[in-house]
Amino acid sequence: MIILQRGKFITFEGIDGAGKSTHLAWLASFLRDKGLEVIVTREPGSTALGEQLRQLLLDHRQAMHAETETLLMFAARREHLDKVILPALERGAWVISDRFTDASFAYQGGGRGVPSARLEILEQWVQKGFSPDLTVYFDVPVTISRQRVQSARTADRFELEPDLFFERVRQAYLQRAKQFSERIRVVDGSLSLEEVRTAMVEVVEKFWSAQASSGYRM
Ligand SMILES: Nc1ncnc2c1ncn2[C@@H]1O[C@H](COP(=O)(O)OP(=O)(O)OP(=O)(O)O)[C@@H](O)[C@H]1O
Ligand SMILES: [Mg+2]
Repeated sequence: MIILQRGKFITFEGIDGAGKSTHLAWLASFLRDKGLEVIVTREPGSTALGEQLRQLLLDHRQAMHAETETLLMFAARREHLDKVILPALERGAWVISDRFTDASFAYQGGGRGVPSARLEILEQWVQKGFSPDLTVYFDVPVTISRQRVQSARTADRFELEPDLFFERVRQAYLQRAKQFSERIRVVDGSLSLEEVRTAMVEVVEKFWSAQASSGYRM
């Protein structure tokens, strides 16, 4: 009899230019080399409806109330869970998401000032207690974030926000990392690419060994 084990859910967090996308590809191939099926996904987006919501959310011509923004983020997340994340985990695949709910606490909470209590209600409503098994938070100062993304592309609705906004986002991420220190691992994203990768590899290998020693089988 084959007992199918549920996959693990890993999320990457951090402000723009922190290195999420750069290092995500490495992690996916690390896990695939272990013989796992790996799904790489992102928020907001990753479903047909979610990608349409992403366009609305990032469009700098589309002003919206902070709560509208929050509700759209959670609406996209509900689809993401239903259509991508949960089915993949159920069939035993591992899922890595470029941003998830910690980003709502950082951006809509820290950045826009939506009270955490409201975000927690939405989190509970949409996720029903579900949360990532591991989160890697790439921490970078706002000045470095700005330098890295500058001139790379046209600024979206978030990137047009002033440095102070991103300071609040960063502080909210750090605060969450403290609050959920078991799940959220902080990696200093301001170091060289190689150093950041080394730190991330350490986090992932520790997580991997913990799974293995708790009886996780491929
Ligand atoms: N540690 C680093 N040292 C130097 N450059 C870096 C480092 N990490 C990332 N970069 C560069 O910064 C840019 C942005 O990195 P990346 O796209 O991985 O960030 P991100 O966290 O995915 O940002 P976004 O949220 O905007 O998608 C890329 O050009 C990348 O090569
Ligand atoms: Mg990215």
